[in-house]
Amino acid sequence: MNVYKPGNVKHKTGKVIHRRIEIERVKKMAFKIGVIRGDGIGPEIVGEALKVLQKVSEKYSQEFEYTEILLGGASIDVHGEPLTKEALAAAKECDAVLMGSIGGDTTTSPWYKLPANLRPEAGLLAIRKGLGLFANMRPAYLYEELKDACPLKEEIIGDGFDLVVMRELTGGLYFGDRKTTEENGLLTAVDTLTYNEEEIRRIAIRGFDIAMKRRKKVTSVDKANVLDSSRLWRKVVNEVAEDYPEVELNHMLVDNCAMQLVRDPKQFDVILTENMFGDILSDEASMVTGSIGMLSSASLKEGSFGLYEPSHGSAPDIAGKNLANPIATILSAAMLLRYSLNMDEAADAVEAAVKQVLKEGYRTVDIMSEGMTQCSTTEMGDLIAARI
Ligand code: IPM
Ligand code: MG
Repeated sequence: MNVYKPGNVKHKTGKVIHRRIEIERVKKMAFKIGVIRGDGIGPEIVGEALKVLQKVSEKYSQEFEYTEILLGGASIDVHGEPLTKEALAAAKECDAVLMGSIGGDTTTSPWYKLPANLRPEAGLLAIRKGLGLFANMRPAYLYEELKDACPLKEEIIGDGFDLVVMRELTGGLYFGDRKTTEENGLLTAVDTLTYNEEEIRRIAIRGFDIAMKRRKKVTSVDKANVLDSSRLWRKVVNEVAEDYPEVELNHMLVDNCAMQLVRDPKQFDVILTENMFGDILSDEASMVTGSIGMLSSASLKEGSFGLYEPSHGSAPDIAGKNLANPIATILSAAMLLRYSLNMDEAADAVEAAVKQVLKEGYRTVDIMSEGMTQCSTTEMGDLIAARI
């Protein structure tokens, strides 16, 4: 906010030259950012993203106020549960939340001896649900500089690909009733997959909106040859499509989509799909870029609030070794600036800094290739922050 106040301006010679309008820059309101460091490599990669946000704060004279929030194993260790009511309430008070990763080694960590509803992942599902974050956007694109890391053949890669998975995040199989009982002496487990048309409509609208800002193509993915929930999905997506005549819509069965992602990823712009299909396909999409350590994600609702996290997990095997690639988290911070804080210019600057560092040949170990300069987590953060 600028406040204009009349006053005499002193020239550098010391003479008061004339009365003019003096601009007094009143400090902009600070944005409140929730910080979930989480488990495994989470604290390390979030530390680097905060370094970058610090640089953004200085460069764009925008104050950020941070609230630390415990989630996952980190919360279990302190409170005995993966998400407390207080932590959820604290997240709701923020303009946006930046998250690292949660969870540990499922075979060795004591967290996985707890009942399922008290494990780290339950906390992540609960915070998504509690914050109403129904739209999960996971971009997957091939960096020119990292083409060597792409596991696909040269002729498939061509001049690269750039797609985004729009995954429904608070419905479907991951949130339906589940139970394990004994039926006629046999252990029997049931999980239920439920969607109502409103849940489908709101994610479809987000998918089409994103497509309008991109190449205007939506591939809606379902299993309509088998599932009722998918037949409803298809019907509602077709209805929503009527409001977006410029967008080309096609429907694809999920098994075919899994195959098409490795056969010809270039055909996709926006992949719109339900929770579990999106969970699986987004891992596949990120792996075909060859650099899961590079991919960010945003979980959104109506309005500007969002939770931003890398697409990858907590990598407990390399935690604490200063080896993890912080780029996905730094790019998630860029998405946070863009979608929640409306700081597009700063977001562009962060993304450009990442590209610049790659161009200069710096690589963390996961994306290392011959002739490049290997660097640690903290070095990568410093290099990117220095280029903003
Ligand atoms: C993801 C993860 C989570 C999910 C797990 C950890 C619950 O796989 O963000 O993709 O399935 O949503
Ligand atoms: Mg997943």
